[in-house]
Amino acid sequence: MKINVWFGITLLFLILAGCSPEKEQSSISLNQPWQFYPGDHIRYPGTEFNDTTRATISPSKPWERQGFKNLDGYAWYRCTVMIPSSLKQQGYFHDTLQISLGKIDDCDQVFLNGKLIGENGMTVYDERDPDTSFAESYGFWDKPRHYLLSVNDPRIRWDEENTIAIRVYDSGGLGGLFDGPFELSMLDLEDYIHFDAASAGFDYGPGNCLTKNFTIENRSSAEGFQGVLSMNVFNTRNRSCLFRKDTLVLLEPGSLNTFSFTIDNIPTSPVSAEVSFTEGASGIPISGILDLPYILTPQVSVYPRINGARVFGVRPGSPFLFKVPATGKAPLSYFAENLPEGLNLHASTGIISGQVNEPGSYFCSLIVENSVGTAKEPFRIEVGDLISLTPPLGWNSWNCWGLSVSDEKVRSSALAMKESGLIDHGWSYINIDDGWEATHVDGKIATNEKFPDMHALCDYVHSLGLKIGIYSSPGPTTCGGYEGSYGFEQADADSYASWGMDYLKYDWCSYFRIAPTPNQEELEHPYRIMEKALLSTGRDIHYSLCQYGMGKVWKWGASVGGNSWRTTGDITDTWESLSGIGFSQGACSQYANPGHWNDPDMLVLGWVGWGPNLHYTQLTPNEQYTHITLWSMLASPLLLGNDLSQLDPFTMNLLTNDEVLAVNQDPLGIQAIPVVQNDFYQIWTKGMEDGSSVLGLFNLTEQSLNLGVNLQELGFGERYGIRDLWQQRELGKVERYFEIRIEPHGARMIHLKKDMKDFVKQ
Ligand code: GAL
Repeated sequence: MKINVWFGITLLFLILAGCSPEKEQSSISLNQPWQFYPGDHIRYPGTEFNDTTRATISPSKPWERQGFKNLDGYAWYRCTVMIPSSLKQQGYFHDTLQISLGKIDDCDQVFLNGKLIGENGMTVYDERDPDTSFAESYGFWDKPRHYLLSVNDPRIRWDEENTIAIRVYDSGGLGGLFDGPFELSMLDLEDYIHFDAASAGFDYGPGNCLTKNFTIENRSSAEGFQGVLSMNVFNTRNRSCLFRKDTLVLLEPGSLNTFSFTIDNIPTSPVSAEVSFTEGASGIPISGILDLPYILTPQVSVYPRINGARVFGVRPGSPFLFKVPATGKAPLSYFAENLPEGLNLHASTGIISGQVNEPGSYFCSLIVENSVGTAKEPFRIEVGDLISLTPPLGWNSWNCWGLSVSDEKVRSSALAMKESGLIDHGWSYINIDDGWEATHVDGKIATNEKFPDMHALCDYVHSLGLKIGIYSSPGPTTCGGYEGSYGFEQADADSYASWGMDYLKYDWCSYFRIAPTPNQEELEHPYRIMEKALLSTGRDIHYSLCQYGMGKVWKWGASVGGNSWRTTGDITDTWESLSGIGFSQGACSQYANPGHWNDPDMLVLGWVGWGPNLHYTQLTPNEQYTHITLWSMLASPLLLGNDLSQLDPFTMNLLTNDEVLAVNQDPLGIQAIPVVQNDFYQIWTKGMEDGSSVLGLFNLTEQSLNLGVNLQELGFGERYGIRDLWQQRELGKVERYFEIRIEPHGARMIHLKKDMKDFVKQ
């Protein structure tokens, strides 16, 4: 009924404004193959240049993803397009033509019919000598590119072919045009009216309700707009309506207006909100779709359950610290059978401490009891050379606090890890990234004023049952410009051990000053020095190499003592970054094994920001499911990068699903391999210690997908029981083939178990 009213209002506006709902082409797409010219030449911007013989490229993906590997520096894109004068009738403002060119990594100059019409980052262009051009590449790569021209601009050739040429400079990494939109259009209402749903996050109110605040900004300083704001929240699968409201609103010039909607229950299946503003005079609508968080992880049961790793490695004689992760109705009591000599389990905290001197494999049992039951699980302690037998689960300060990290923030994060219950699902490290260092005083690294007492901080974190980590660089300075370890490696390792550190992230950064174009020996050298220094301390310190994957570090990281190694540059909270990094990890799968993990960088969920100002992750809920699914399949370290004092129910649901985490923590320590990879979907498989397999199914498109999975084609047998790990629910028995729905940019995680009954009958 309400929907009809809304249509009625819109129609009324359309009739009053005298608009025809049938419109001519409102934009000219530039999303077509462009001619592509690596390098730089004075003739590339011109109209007379002959384009016919060169390579073409799609503007929507960086050039390194289209076969132009390792191309850095200059390159040109060219296309020709007919601009019909009928376009001038479109849009809201009929006097301005807009050229939209997606995003450009890193910076660009745009030429129309041989004449420069705009640029971002390229501050000097000398037509006679392009080589003397100067590119200021920093900070432009993810800025949307829109160039505006008056319709009377003589550079536009109406009703004729026009040549658009873009000169791009890439300082390193992917390079070129990406994302979108790529089009010519008249300046429209949407260029002034801006919805912002991203900044506010979600409010989880009393009684399980969910509120979304969003703003609409009118960026025009001269014009106000009146119209109907429609908010429509619906179940994405069956489109049933959860909330609907239409309101007449006035957006004053230059105003920022806040609106919200509330639904009664936090969704447990995909829900979307469509918000639109229909301007009254023109009938032009501007709308946006927002995916709402939905919770798949079932609530924790009152019965005791032991979570987390089933195996733990320690070196003989090193301090042992392990908190038994367990859930269930409080209070819980903890017991163990067959713990090796030298270890004690505290019955009420569940913390095992002490030291074991005799190398060997110790097969123990952990027992957790409460008023409603008892849980018992096997637990293997390996006393030997290897530590980190399962990927570390924890938190690192970088993605939220950046260089503004402080003692206080580390303490409050540690406390939040315990009090939020994350610790009960196996999350155990609290790692300080860059920003704690002062200088070396008498050969010893001093902490800066933000960290008054590192020893006391370590004691505090340990007292909670958690471990603590630190950061440095083999170079003279860190990436943040603080003091590095160059020349002080042993002294620094001794300091870390004396404070009580359990983890070191060792970040190449300024080591480029020592080895500007490192060969293999130079890549390994600084990491060997610190390996030796750490080993001599007698403390188990997880050694995390960070050098962005140089020299295929996954092939030799273990040989320099690395327990994990970053395989890529830094991640950010966008689909482009997440999917680019995550889906390229197949190349290093075979090098992961217990004690040695590929690290595709930290998690970008929740409130992140890389500095004092945080924002809610830009990833959609589905993309966040993909993030945890893929990183778990990859057996990578899971290091949270968000503010732990702002953990909402959705984020907690992502981080406390014990069946999902068990895939990451499986003692066999195999990294998933991709078995199907194309532009639409991917299938990855991971073998588990018990002989079963897990499938990670990923939808790379922006539409939901019904994926047919042919098990035989993937190399599996005939009959299986399949279980949805996010929902912790059996989906039934399948023979050779099953179909499954995957949300846009979303993932499913399916446990494939041989159906033992049928297996015996065969
Ligand atoms: C980068 C590193 C980041 C962070 C930062 C600190 O090189 O990749 O994860 O540690 O340095 O300055």
